[in-house]
Amino acid sequence: METGGKAIRVIVFFNFYLFMIVTHTERERGAETQAEGEAGSMHREPDMGFDPGSPGSCPGPKAGAKLLRHPGIPRITLKTNFFATRNVCNELLPIIKPHDLQKKFQCETLTEEDLVDLMKKFVEDTSNEVHEREGWPNSAYGVSKLGVTVLSRILAWRLDEKRKVDRILLNACCPGWVKTDMGGPYGPRTVEEGAKTPVYLALLPPDATEPHGQLVHDKVVLNW
Ligand SMILES: NC(=O)c1ccc[n+]([C@@H]2O[C@H](COP(=O)([O-])OP(=O)(O)OC[C@H]3O[C@@H](n4cnc5c(N)ncnc54)[C@H](OP(=O)(O)O)[C@@H]3O)[C@@H](O)[C@H]2O)c1
Repeated sequence: METGGKAIRVIVFFNFYLFMIVTHTERERGAETQAEGEAGSMHREPDMGFDPGSPGSCPGPKAGAKLLRHPGIPRITLKTNFFATRNVCNELLPIIKPHDLQKKFQCETLTEEDLVDLMKKFVEDTSNEVHEREGWPNSAYGVSKLGVTVLSRILAWRLDEKRKVDRILLNACCPGWVKTDMGGPYGPRTVEEGAKTPVYLALLPPDATEPHGQLVHDKVVLNW
């Protein structure tokens, strides 16, 4: 993650530690305060008998006391490990969406009726202005296409269940961004190029068994 020139790597050890390593760029390193520089050199002191970069390692009582007495150590350690972590969490948590909705769409037992209810819920949630809180994106077009993709999968399963013998394949496909009335003049694909995947799917040989119930783009099944 890049934040104002500082590369921050966060390693989360859920059971015991939330540990953060802040890697400074050379330019920033030069601008560090005297205290931070000294603290940095103490962190690297070999006779401390511990590695501050290793979550399993901790200073012995003597080394710990010596570190605490250093004017820079408590401030920098707390600033890095606690306050910076808190800042990142406070920024990121509000924009992390709930997983429930994604799971519902991916659920293999989702019925057509369940899907219809989800689509209706999107309309209702947007009109009540709670759709973001409920985990929906800000795109009615995107949700409508997600609905079509999931509907294709459900209908394909139904064909398998009820009309296996007819060997009908059913898929959703994406043509890419195509210059059409809807796509506008800037799409990189011509109508002929956009038609390749739908035509490929429509002309699959009669003995083909796949793709079926999939989302296909450029003749390749997409995992979503
Ligand atoms: N173009 C792209 O980049 C792109 C990308 C991904 C997916 N798609 C999908 O590909 C499909 C075809 O799109 P396209 O790019 O070929 O668009 P298009 O050339 O603009 O054609 C859209 C068609 O939909 C009809 N239509 C529009 N609104 C309608 C409504 N409310 N009720 C009934 N019919 C309506 C239009 O009828 P009229 O001609 O009578 O208006 C037209 O025949 C769409 O499902 C689109 O979402 C397109």
